[in-house]
Amino acid sequence: MDREDRTTHFGFRDVPLADKQTLVNDVFHSVAQRYDLMNDLMSGGLHRVWKNAMITTLNPPRNNAPFSLLDVAGGTGDIAFRAAKTAGSGFQATVCDINPDMLAVGRERAIKQHRDHQVSFVEGNAETLAFTDRGFDAYTIAFGIRNVPRIDAALREAFRVLKPGGRFLCLEFSTVDVPGLDKIYDLFSFKVIPPLGRAVTGDADSYRYLVESIRKFPKPDAFADMIRDAGFARVSWQALSGGIVALHSGWRL
Ligand SMILES: C[S@@+](CC[C@H](N)C(=O)[O-])C[C@H]1O[C@@H](n2cnc3c(N)ncnc32)[C@H](O)[C@@H]1O
Repeated sequence: MDREDRTTHFGFRDVPLADKQTLVNDVFHSVAQRYDLMNDLMSGGLHRVWKNAMITTLNPPRNNAPFSLLDVAGGTGDIAFRAAKTAGSGFQATVCDINPDMLAVGRERAIKQHRDHQVSFVEGNAETLAFTDRGFDAYTIAFGIRNVPRIDAALREAFRVLKPGGRFLCLEFSTVDVPGLDKIYDLFSFKVIPPLGRAVTGDADSYRYLVESIRKFPKPDAFADMIRDAGFARVSWQALSGGIVALHSGWRL
């Protein structure tokens, strides 16, 4: 076993691989109630634009044709609700997340938005999904995969649960590739986000982790290779907002 098998990165700290999930769970436990507000503040509302780009690409049927979405690391259900709003009556979403606090906020939202018949919430780990093979038309994961300790395992599971012809979409923070914007982005990430996190959620460390984990995530081409290695075909990606975020796509053929 080499060092990378035994340790992983938690922010810029190396921690035993087995401990990363516990640390990640603490982060989302502490921010769950204010997670949606923080998303707006941290991204200046841009997360809505990025998520809408994912839904546009997903393009769920607008009619009553059955379409089942699995949204993994779905947290408070943002992707599922956005998809449900544009989709027709045949749309069903399952939000799967490892953190019961995030799911509880999502369930409340579903009831308030009268979407509880269409969007359901299930506790589970992206690395070991408790769903049968070939059950879903689409798998989405937004701002979640970099938190999963064994990304390759999560990608293999995504492939397993998709129907042939099913689509994988992943939205994740990426590498800013516009000169000038990279400096502003660094300053904002390290000097603004942690204090903002402390002011709103009382927890600067969690937001420091979120910022640092973005820097550790594989570059878009390397991540596309990982998606191919899991079995997906026609893998592609597009940079959004100068590379702050990347949207990766693949198909189970
Ligand atoms: C930044 S949030 C994203 C939530 C939602 N997708 C969104 O875009 O608003 C990351 C989510 O990943 C979840 N998560 C972390 N590790 C996970 C794992 N191994 N399996 C499933 N979910 C996980 C966290 O609990 C958290 O809800």
